[in-house]
Amino acid sequence: MNEKNILLIIAGGIAAVKAPDLIRKLTQEGVRVTPVLTKSGAQFVTPLSISALARSKVYTDLFDLTDEAEMGHIELSRSADLVLVAPSTGHLMAKMAHGIADDLASTILLATDTHVMIAPSMNVRMWDHPATQRNLAILKADGVQMVGPNEGEMACGEFGAGRMVEVTEILQAVAQYFKTGPLSGRHILVTSGPTHEPIDPVRYIANRSSGAQGTALAEALRDLGARVSFVTGPADVAPPTGVQVHRVQTANEMLTAVQAVLPADAAIFAAAVADWRVDEPQKQKIKKQASGALPDLKFSENPDILALIAQHEKRPELVIGFAAETSNVVENATAKLLRKGCDWIVANDVTPATGIMGGLNNTVTVIDANGAEAWSDMPKVEVARRLAKRIAGALS
Ligand code: C5P
Repeated sequence: MNEKNILLIIAGGIAAVKAPDLIRKLTQEGVRVTPVLTKSGAQFVTPLSISALARSKVYTDLFDLTDEAEMGHIELSRSADLVLVAPSTGHLMAKMAHGIADDLASTILLATDTHVMIAPSMNVRMWDHPATQRNLAILKADGVQMVGPNEGEMACGEFGAGRMVEVTEILQAVAQYFKTGPLSGRHILVTSGPTHEPIDPVRYIANRSSGAQGTALAEALRDLGARVSFVTGPADVAPPTGVQVHRVQTANEMLTAVQAVLPADAAIFAAAVADWRVDEPQKQKIKKQASGALPDLKFSENPDILALIAQHEKRPELVIGFAAETSNVVENATAKLLRKGCDWIVANDVTPATGIMGGLNNTVTVIDANGAEAWSDMPKVEVARRLAKRIAGALS
């Protein structure tokens, strides 16, 4: 981060009180921070304290002749290596999504050609509101990078998603963005974990995937400098830091999330997606019948996300599938490679005796057009590192 220029937009949420700490930590890392404070942001932190910490002028007004003479808003929007919005309110997200430029911050965001990273902060109801979720989808499609929000207790006393991430998490995301590595500048999608397909409000179909291999892969790709979009089902293992996390429950939700993060340079489908879902899950818990009659469940096939993305109009350059097999591993996995139209298949034997599902180690065979490469038994993090290196090689 040393010597990088960040244009920091501070909007008017209670999390603006974290901005001084963020500026202090960024400047300690050698970052030059140019602060822009919205009118409502200035209700939470003073221009003087922000200016003192950033050791820079604070820009607040679009129509300031002196500012325009010194550095016009267009130049301001282009001069940075990164535009960081922390906190971003629901209001500012809405303006960004719809191209509204009615103050300095929103005008900069409309005029900039620099990467934009935002740390949303708002009440859980505001975050969950369909309007905010629509705006979020638009912003993601526009290439705006989200950092958080987290779940937690809010300043207003409510609990839920919408709380701004901690300053350290913003620093990690910024450091990640500036990191140089063989995959820097690359966007890679990783799916991970199981999916849960509801039967009724309390029951679901699931599988034993822990999400360990997908998580390790996302971390290894991140460590080589990639920007990682991590679409995860309800896994046991916590998602990595420094990646964009999209949490889903069902296969259909996973498909929607995956499509929303495209385009990507590579996509790795490490999730153990349920093959079937129950048609029309019951709204009430299904009761045991006194007669002993069993529930009449009807199933539908879930979309094959890997196969769909391998044929997608925005198909990533490299599409990688996993094949969890319990017999004839290489033969079945090779057939899968052809059937699904992916570039590589990472095959493994998941018979319970191997302890692979949910375990720490993995024994994989990597299959591509050139044939099968059997790797010895090794920790999942090592499998991930080697795969990440192989991916970096293939994309170079
Ligand atoms: O067909 P099978 O489930 O064995 O294929 C495994 C591969 O396909 C994995 O990469 C998995 O993530 C992906 N898959 C998928 N959508 C499904 C089923 C599997 O993306 N519905």
